Amino acid sequence: MIILMRILLLLLEIQIIYGLVISPLFNNWYCLDFIKNVDKSKPLKFNIGEMPLVVWFKNETTPLSTINICSHQGSTLDSGKINNKGCLICPYHGLSHDKSMAYGKTIIHEGKLWWSYNNYKKPPSIPFYNNKNYKRTEISVDMNANILDCIHNLIDINHPQFIHNSILGFGNTNDPISNVKIFNYKNKKKLGLSLNYKSNTKLRYVKQELKTSNNFHIYDYPFTSWSRVSLNNKQNLFVYVNLLPLTKDTTRWFITLSHNYWKSDVEMKLMELAGRIILDQDKDQMNIQAKTSKLKSLWINKIKINNENHLEDLRKIIKTNNDNSLDLFPSI
Ligand code: FES
Ligand SMILES: [Fe+2]
Repeated sequence: MIILMRILLLLLEIQIIYGLVISPLFNNWYCLDFIKNVDKSKPLKFNIGEMPLVVWFKNETTPLSTINICSHQGSTLDSGKINNKGCLICPYHGLSHDKSMAYGKTIIHEGKLWWSYNNYKKPPSIPFYNNKNYKRTEISVDMNANILDCIHNLIDINHPQFIHNSILGFGNTNDPISNVKIFNYKNKKKLGLSLNYKSNTKLRYVKQELKTSNNFHIYDYPFTSWSRVSLNNKQNLFVYVNLLPLTKDTTRWFITLSHNYWKSDVEMKLMELAGRIILDQDKDQMNIQAKTSKLKSLWINKIKINNENHLEDLRKIIKTNNDNSLDLFPSI
């Protein structure tokens, strides 16, 4: 029985991989959630694009995962029970799922739950994660935009003056960007961008009243992006983001604000509030992005405005890697 199950699982995997149903999934680590949000005592369902996953914890410590469809007669598994051996029991006829029936690898890394089918390298890391001088705030937001629009937003330096220029934004409408430099890296998976940004006076308190900050951005193909805002006295604010594609027009952002100043409880709360306000401003824009369509992909990216030279490098990275990681949905 177990041998038969293994053969069936193997056949299923071959079919999935070579049937290209979800082939882009197979090269990457996906952040599923912050571990602080995870209840380890029960099975949890997640989606990576169209692939449904169920994760459960053996002894509330070791995460295991499989496709959230019972391979017997198709029940979903996330309402199943975890028995005292750490197996997930299907609610329909009691099929027991142990490590041998796991699908892909699930790990906890830097306070987040990650899944990968077949990736032996570690998931991407947050700068200074183990440095005790840094405090972290974790926020997740679902953005109503496709993965490519989200990536563009994260490395777009032009939108703050339009989207973040309200009373609670840092965007400055008066020529705020200078000294833009682009960095390309040997591994052809990363893109770097440095610049100086002159903030307006409104949210400048987050920047310790500093008028012009040194900013450095990294895009790390395919799903990670972070920015460092450097202030006086070696004070840094990192805004670190992992993306998870949920549907063709929904992308979950896992944002970690990490900073070596503003470390008291009150200041941490203020930092979180400022972060949420700025993310809401991005969310409003993501809500009005045109939905994914062939027409949209043919129509856009024909016009280049100031401070967009790095977008050519971004496209090169996407083209060079050419592994369809960003193409989880056939219509993109
Ligand atoms: S459907 Fe899961 S055991 Fe039958
Ligand atoms: Fe923004």
